[in-house]
Amino acid sequence: MANPAKVEVDGKVFEFPVIEGTEGEKGIDVRDLRAKTGYITYDEAYGNTGSCQSKVTFIDGEKGILRYRGIPIEELAHGSTFVQTAYLLIFGKLPTEAERQHFSGLLTKYQMIHEDMKFHFEGFPSGAHPMAMLSAMINAAGCFIPEVMGRYDPAVFEHQAARLISQVRTLAAYAYRKSMGLPSIYPKRKYMYTENFLHMMFSEPDEDYHLNPAVVDALDLIFLLHADHEQNCSTSTVRMVASSKANLFASASAGVCALWGPLHGGANQAVIEMLEEIQIQGDDGSRFLERVKQKDGHAKLMGFGHRVYKNFDPRAQIIKKACDEMLGKLGIHDPLLDIALKLEATALKDPYFIERKLYPNVDFYSGIILKAIGIPTEMFTVIFAIGRMPGWIANYKEVAESGDSRIYRPRQIYQGPIQNPYVPIEQR
Ligand code: CMC
Repeated sequence: MANPAKVEVDGKVFEFPVIEGTEGEKGIDVRDLRAKTGYITYDEAYGNTGSCQSKVTFIDGEKGILRYRGIPIEELAHGSTFVQTAYLLIFGKLPTEAERQHFSGLLTKYQMIHEDMKFHFEGFPSGAHPMAMLSAMINAAGCFIPEVMGRYDPAVFEHQAARLISQVRTLAAYAYRKSMGLPSIYPKRKYMYTENFLHMMFSEPDEDYHLNPAVVDALDLIFLLHADHEQNCSTSTVRMVASSKANLFASASAGVCALWGPLHGGANQAVIEMLEEIQIQGDDGSRFLERVKQKDGHAKLMGFGHRVYKNFDPRAQIIKKACDEMLGKLGIHDPLLDIALKLEATALKDPYFIERKLYPNVDFYSGIILKAIGIPTEMFTVIFAIGRMPGWIANYKEVAESGDSRIYRPRQIYQGPIQNPYVPIEQR
C-alpha cells in the first residue's frame, strides 16, 4: 500500500489515499477532496484525471505499449482476428474454439436488422453523412429489442453485445449504400465477419463482390487495431452515458457521435483530405508543413500527435507495414502514400515535431489502406466505429457491473457574472 498523498490547503494538511494499478501507475484518490477541503480539482480536458479503474486496456504512452486484457497489440495483430479480439475485450479472455463458434453463431444469428429499420433509412437525405446515420440507427435498433430498454441483465448481455457488434456492420453498410443511392445488400451466412461487411458494401443484387484475402485481412486488422484504446473521448462518452443507466445501444450511439470529430475518429478522413489537398496544390508536403509550424489557419498535420503516446503509437507501426504489404499484393501504387512517407520522414526530423513529441498515430496510414480497398473517405470514421464497438461494449459492461457506481458528474469553476437582479424587458 503506497503512502497517502498530503495536500496543504489554507494552511491545513489533508491526506488522500494513493491507488496503484497493476502496472504500477499511481493516482491520488481525491473523491472526498471537496468534502474535506471545500476545493475541487481543475483539469480541463482531463489530461491528469483518472475517471475510473478499468481492467480492459493498458497503455504506456511513453514506452509505446498497448495491451488488451494484458495481451500486447502486436501479438493480437499477428495471431488473432477481430471477432476473437472482441470476445477477449468483452469477456476478459480469449475464446476457446467452442466459445468462438458459439459467439460467431450469435453474430450470424443477429446479422439481419429488422426489416422495418429500412424505412428509417428512407428518412435521411441523400448525401447524409454515414456517421450521422450510424449513430441514429444504432439508437433506433435498440427500440426493436424490448429487453435492451430494461436494466442491465448479465443473462442476456452476451446476446445484446453480439447483436450490436453484428448489426453495426450491417447498419454501416446500409448507411453507405443509402448515401450512394444503391440498393441495400443482405448479409450472407457463409461469410465471416469482415467478409460479410465487404459483401454488404460492394456486392450488387445481380453480382457478388470478389473477396480478395489480402483486402479481408487488412480490413480485419484495421478493425482489430481500433478495438479499444482505454479512456479516449468516445469511450469516456460511452461510460458517461452508461453511468446514468442508459441502455447499451443508446450509450454506443453516443460513442459514435463523440468519435465523429476530426480530433478523434474523424482524423482518418481528415488525413486523406489533407494528402489530397497537398497533391492538388502540387506540393510535396514541405509547404504544408511550414503552414502547420506557423500555425497558419490552425493547420495541423492530421494523423500526427496523441494525448497519450509521446514516443510512438504501436498501432501506427503495425498499420504502416500492413499498408505496404496490401498495396504490394494488390499491385497498387498510390501517390498519396509517397506524400505521406515524405511528410512523416520530414516531420520526424523537424524540431517542431520532435520538441512536441508528435509521431504518426493509427490514422496516418489507415486511410491509405481504406482508400485502396475502395471505401469512400466519408466511411472511414464509420470503419473506426465498427472496430471500436467491442471496446465501448467492454467499458459499458464494466460500468453496468460496478453495481452501485455513481453517475458521472464533473464539477466546474464558475466564471460567469455574479448575482444580478432580473430586469423587466421594458426597463432594459
Ligand atoms: N500538427 C501540428 N501540431 C500539433 C499536432 C499536429 N497534429 N498535434 C499537436 N500539435 C501541437 C499543438 O498545436 C501544441 O502546440 P503548442 O505547444 O505550440 O501550443 C502541442 O503540439 C501540444 O498539442 P495539444 O493540442 O496540447 O495535444 P493534445 O493532447 O490536446 O491533442 C491530438 C492530441 C491527437 C488531438 C492532437 O495531437 C491532434 O489534433 N492531432 C491531429 C488529429 C489526429 O490525428 N487525431 C487522431 C488521434 S489518434 C486516433 C484517436 O485515438 O482518436
